[in-house]
Amino acid sequence: MTPTSPERFAARSADANSSQRRVAVVTGASSGIGAATARVLAAAGYHVVVGARRVDRIEALAAEIGGTGYPLDVTDDASVAAFVARLDRVDVLVNNAGGARGVSSVADADLDDWRWMWETNVLGTLRLTKALLPALIASGDGLIVTVTSLAALQFYDGGSGYTSAKHAQAMVHRTLRGELLGKPVRLTEIAPGMVETEFSLVRLGGDQEKADAVYAGMTPLVAQDVAEVIGFVASRPPHVNLDQIVLKPRDQADTRRNVKNNK
Ligand SMILES: NC(=O)c1ccc[n+]([C@@H]2O[C@H](COP(=O)([O-])OP(=O)(O)OC[C@H]3O[C@@H](n4cnc5c(N)ncnc54)[C@H](OP(=O)(O)O)[C@@H]3O)[C@@H](O)[C@H]2O)c1
Repeated sequence: MTPTSPERFAARSADANSSQRRVAVVTGASSGIGAATARVLAAAGYHVVVGARRVDRIEALAAEIGGTGYPLDVTDDASVAAFVARLDRVDVLVNNAGGARGVSSVADADLDDWRWMWETNVLGTLRLTKALLPALIASGDGLIVTVTSLAALQFYDGGSGYTSAKHAQAMVHRTLRGELLGKPVRLTEIAPGMVETEFSLVRLGGDQEKADAVYAGMTPLVAQDVAEVIGFVASRPPHVNLDQIVLKPRDQADTRRNVKNNK
């Protein structure tokens, strides 16, 4: 039996359902929306398993919330297989790991940045979702939350690498809604606008001044705002599927128009 075979989860979930707490897996939980979501789900009673590449942060968060932290690189097949092999039960999967690199036009596109964005956002979501589907079905009340973006609904100059990856990630998620009809798994897409996290720092190559300038002169969302919405989604009864939730700061109308750039 392979570590991700459906039988493995089906066999274990019979025991787990009667005696263990519900388990939520949050990818990309070493900062921002993922870390805040892990805290909210732990406070709601889940045993939360957190994964990311920065293991020191994952271990500290797991200790803080009484959860479990394992190293996870969603772009690496072996890392995903090792992460999944350590899980006995999964009721909620939050596909949150992701981000952007660069703000180049199509004409100046950096192919390495594009590969990073597609590997992390699209194939990362695909890897984790595919590997954990058997466990989510075996749970009897599974939930997949995928954090896409306003960039999965719109486009903007200098954003094509990210918007195309987020559109593709959303297609993986939205397609499953039909493919899983009749199975006990719900699917919710969370599409936030501007959230002040490490997102812009990563996107802008670690330049803190440039990252701060993205949010100066407006009030962006914070990670907790998004996490609380995910907590609400997870608290709905099993027959209620919140399909897609778009949340933006009041100061942002769309990806191209906000209170600082209002034309
Ligand atoms: N901030 C925004 O304005 C915004 C808006 C809409 C959507 N989003 C989306 O929200 C999600 C979370 O972003 P955030 O704003 O919270 O940014 P963040 O603070 O930069 O967090 C990104 C997380 O993704 C993890 N990650 C990146 N590459 C990974 C990999 N290969 N394997 C595992 N984990 C990986 C990072 O952990 P490690 O580096 O430790 O691996 C980190 O924990 C992303 O999918 C992002 O696209 C953000």
